[in-house]
Amino acid sequence: MDDTPAFRPRALDAILADAAARGFRLSCEERTGSLLAVLAASKPGGLFLELGTGVGAGTAWLLPGMSPDARLLSVDNDPAVLAVAARHLGRDGRVSFTVADAGEWLDSYRGPRFALAYADCFPGKFHRAGDLLRLLEPGGLYLADDLLPQATWPQEHQQRVDAFLAQLPGHPGLLAAPMAWASGLLLGSRTRFAAGEPRQPTEAARPPGGR
Ligand SMILES: C[S@@+](CC[C@H](N)C(=O)[O-])C[C@H]1O[C@@H](n2cnc3c(N)ncnc32)[C@H](O)[C@@H]1O
Repeated sequence: MDDTPAFRPRALDAILADAAARGFRLSCEERTGSLLAVLAASKPGGLFLELGTGVGAGTAWLLPGMSPDARLLSVDNDPAVLAVAARHLGRDGRVSFTVADAGEWLDSYRGPRFALAYADCFPGKFHRAGDLLRLLEPGGLYLADDLLPQATWPQEHQQRVDAFLAQLPGHPGLLAAPMAWASGLLLGSRTRFAAGEPRQPTEAARPPGGR
């Protein structure tokens, strides 16, 4: 079985060339990207969130899956990498790039719930995953990658990943499938709300921050 993606975002090669030129090695791998596109296509009109934009490889995969009325907020705390993503993808009116620490962004977000969250930096993944899961609509999808061991990991990182993989599948309100595929994924779906948790968004979306 050849699991090489059968399609490829138009902007991807130029994004990866810029990534290589600046020594950025954290872009998602292509099988993960193809899954992101498929998941995006399963939520027509959905509101999507990416925590950790990088240079925009994951964003480039999400966009072709999104319907014309879908929207994506993508957050990174490094304005230099975000500028690369914005240069390649910013003309697409469905995506907004925000420079922010993802933890602070989780504290301040008051908008509608998300149909899909791609957690690709520490906040929302190795810590504060519960705060991100609370922002998903019922049936909303959660994807985390980079869970299979990599030679470049610092020694303590395996413990962090082990704790994540031990906790997330049993997290209240999430049905999750760990997948030893691509870079190692965990795909989950929001199943139910905790007692007392509001089921409807209480505030309209704020305009996302600057590019
Ligand atoms: C793995 S890369 C993202 C790759 C991208 N999502 C993709 O699929 O190609 C992680 C990114 O998270 C960003 N980052 C790290 N810590 C962060 C934080 N606390 N808040 C926001 N972004 C953060 C880094 O600047 C880096 O660009």
